[in-house]
Amino acid sequence: MPGSAARHIIDLSRRGLLRGGLAAAALAALATPTRRLWAAPRFASDPFSLGVASGDPLPDGVVIWTRLAPEPLTGGGMPHVAVEVNWEIAADETFQRIAGKGTALARPELGHAVHVEVSGLAPATPYFYRFTVGDAVSRVGRTRTAPPLDAMPGRMRFISAGCQNYEHGYFTAWRHIAEEAEIDCVFHYGDYIYEGGEQSGHPRRHQGGETYSLDDYRNRYALYKLDPDLAAAHAAHPFLTSFDDHEVDNNWTGSVSEEDGTTRSHIVVPPEIFALRKQAAFQAWYENSPVRRALLPRGPEITAWRALRYGRLVDVAVLDTRSYRDDQPCGDGTKAPCAAVSNPQAQVLGPRQEAWLKERLTASPATWKVLAQQVPMMRRDYGHGSEEAFAMDKWDGYPAARQRLFDHIDAHGVKNVCVLTGDVHSAWAGTLRKDFRDPRSAAVGIEFIASSITSNGDGSETLGSTARLMAHNPHIAFFNNRRGYTLHEATAGRMETIYRAVDYVSRPGAGREDKGRFIVETGTNLLEKA
Ligand SMILES: [Fe+2]
Repeated sequence: MPGSAARHIIDLSRRGLLRGGLAAAALAALATPTRRLWAAPRFASDPFSLGVASGDPLPDGVVIWTRLAPEPLTGGGMPHVAVEVNWEIAADETFQRIAGKGTALARPELGHAVHVEVSGLAPATPYFYRFTVGDAVSRVGRTRTAPPLDAMPGRMRFISAGCQNYEHGYFTAWRHIAEEAEIDCVFHYGDYIYEGGEQSGHPRRHQGGETYSLDDYRNRYALYKLDPDLAAAHAAHPFLTSFDDHEVDNNWTGSVSEEDGTTRSHIVVPPEIFALRKQAAFQAWYENSPVRRALLPRGPEITAWRALRYGRLVDVAVLDTRSYRDDQPCGDGTKAPCAAVSNPQAQVLGPRQEAWLKERLTASPATWKVLAQQVPMMRRDYGHGSEEAFAMDKWDGYPAARQRLFDHIDAHGVKNVCVLTGDVHSAWAGTLRKDFRDPRSAAVGIEFIASSITSNGDGSETLGSTARLMAHNPHIAFFNNRRGYTLHEATAGRMETIYRAVDYVSRPGAGREDKGRFIVETGTNLLEKA
């Protein structure tokens, strides 16, 4: 439970209340346990400190989000009562042409988060939205609805980004993303927060140890969301939000935590204990993400995979490559494959999600099939000479699962598959081949791996291993180790991808640089350097 409100119940002096960030008007609500609604909220500090966001656009609506937190870093600072929040959405920035408005309840059970599923909007249209509570008004967010399902839009412009370790640097790349024009949506592939405790030697510091409780995760999200560059990106574009490992625990899979007896052999976390941590982590993820109510976690489980369509141009399948996956084979890490790597039943998506994805790939009327996911799908052989070595946390650890997907794409003639990936804190482009060992085998799609927003710090153009890696993996066309994101523009004829980067994150203010540009013509699966 948010600590500050508990403090208020004990410290009822006016001075104590004000120090806690609440106006004296909160006293009545706090002192009357039966009163469940704070009717006339007043705040001593901004309840909209965490900004606004929007996401998961449909042709007739979008989710708009905020979370009331006058004391964001210490549990939120709200009283333990529900609060009515007014919202409005308009066709213009000055809210003259209102397209919808209403009232939503910010509930204490959900950390006073508000997720409004706005409907009744016009397709392919920019909108502006804001929230009010008492006399406090949020900043204005901009969003955009999707085109009609049966239309062929002229283009779709989207961004892929993620991996934003707060300690590792400044979110300058988010500032550049906020300033990108005409963006339909931003796919966040995860690592929105990092769960670890504070470490020295980084450009930015945060307080506190590793996150375990709901309050820990809430406070960690608040730290990230207070960053003005990230807040600006959310206020500028709608997001498709997913998660990877660090929203919960490094390299977790299914019911298995990082501490599975292999990577840290002295600690083993039993599944039923890890489930408690997952429950807290997913609740905080939901509270802080502009997603639909369908993604509300149920205990330690969440159904986060879903699809969105941009007319007949782009189908986006947002995948969950963590929840239903087998534990990493061979004790995780990057190494020569052990026997477990050849498990023919290996699961990355799990049977239900895999069947759903295959069905969607075959049935979708859209030209481009975007698989918005987390860990690299392309083969990345790190071995020397004839020795192979693979990172077991990626699709490389589960080749049978990858082969089933590729065989399906090939057998059904699914065209224009474009995989978006993050996770590895470096930028890559490559051709997905039915048989990676044979450079002449059929291409089943293209993969674009976006670098991190900050994770791993300033970086470099290449690494010592780059030349060997490219020689061993002829399907890889591009590698860059600066921080950044990818910008994609899909049309009926082609997909253009630009790798945008910043040359440093250890201090603010880096300019935007383009490190690579690629064109894929429709129907070719051919990655061309532009
Ligand atoms: Fe990451």
